[in-house]
Amino acid sequence: MSLLSNNALTKESSGNALLIGKEARDAKSKNPNVIDSTIGMLFDEDGSFLEFKSVEEVSRDLNAKEKYSYGSTPGDPKYHESLYKWVFREYLDEIRSSMKLACIATPGGSGAICNTFSNYLDENQKVLLPSLMWTNYIQMAREQRLSYETYELFDSNGGFNLQDFEYKMLKLKSEQGRIVVVINDPCQNPTGYSMSYIEWIGVVDVINSLSRDGTPVILLYDMAYIDYDMRGFEASRKNIKLFTNFNENVMVVLAFSGSKTLGLYGLRIGAQIGMTKSEVSINDFKKANDFSARGMWSGTSTLGQSIITKVFEDKPEQFAVELEYARKLLIERAEAFKQEALKVGLKHYPYECGFFVTIPCQNPQNVFDMLKTKGLYVIPLKVGIRLTLSSITKDEVIRAVHILKECIE
Ligand SMILES: Cc1ncc(COP(=O)(O)O)c(C=O)c1O
Repeated sequence: MSLLSNNALTKESSGNALLIGKEARDAKSKNPNVIDSTIGMLFDEDGSFLEFKSVEEVSRDLNAKEKYSYGSTPGDPKYHESLYKWVFREYLDEIRSSMKLACIATPGGSGAICNTFSNYLDENQKVLLPSLMWTNYIQMAREQRLSYETYELFDSNGGFNLQDFEYKMLKLKSEQGRIVVVINDPCQNPTGYSMSYIEWIGVVDVINSLSRDGTPVILLYDMAYIDYDMRGFEASRKNIKLFTNFNENVMVVLAFSGSKTLGLYGLRIGAQIGMTKSEVSINDFKKANDFSARGMWSGTSTLGQSIITKVFEDKPEQFAVELEYARKLLIERAEAFKQEALKVGLKHYPYECGFFVTIPCQNPQNVFDMLKTKGLYVIPLKVGIRLTLSSITKDEVIRAVHILKECIE
């Protein structure tokens, strides 16, 4: 007999990237030729962990209170303000003039996603997820006693599938009268796809037309990789500016990740930023998400908030230069991957840039096992293999393409 509740009986993490990552690290410690292409962290070309100097300098100078004291549950207003400036950049004043904003500090982007799932759907309702996705969304939904529906991410031309997006939104509208939909952009995990401005205009139009009759729509904009967009910092911010066109029945929740933007993975720091035209909705956002944060993790790392606030406020130029270096590193690996894949005829899902790329294949689990015997550790998905370019060098990218080609054939 199990001591677990009925609800908990079926809880078991499967295909856990963190576990596979540990196996890969162990293998690499025994054999340096092993390629560990598993965990979504950035490593430099010499194989070392990519640490941002500005982040390190700022953390060394913090006093004990800035590092260890309890903060309030929603977090420090200075942290919120520095995030608004970072995320909305030159559009902040314009956005503030037409939208209401609120912010809750969270343990990583993950905390922002959990909070949103928890407060905008009732038990057993469905969250709308992309067909190719960071699979932890499913686990987070399950944890909040939700189920899920998916929209096809790509159309037959390899672009964002607006038609299926609309169709599935309509389906959920008629089934449950409200919609929570997740878009992870740019540099989508696991494909590395980045939506165009035109595609975002389409998304905004669809959401507006579906919600005009009063149907609540929550767009969970997972912007974990926003600062690695191949087109530069500006392109994604221009897309965000489009959110000012939403009607008052729409709420955008932006999930910010300190892990990805500042390399603070293990510190567990991020934020949930609410953006809406409605005064009532923003007050509700503050109340419910503050309650859930208190109920789930109580408060978010003061150390993480202090580091981010100081980097954004005191060293924005230095940090921007370092981030630019990291972004270019990824772009070089992306270009190396695309060229080599083309050369050997390795097919992949539409990929621009970013931490990951996905290669479609039959029997991903078998391919995964075979790749391991050749010293290549990846993450198997339902539809293929996810290769992590952020954690391997350019030479390893090229070797990985050849190993993949060999094993998939
Ligand atoms: C798509 C996506 N969203 C959100 C996250 C959350 O990251 P964190 O909680 O570390 O900020 C990740 C992490 O890998 C991710 O890949």
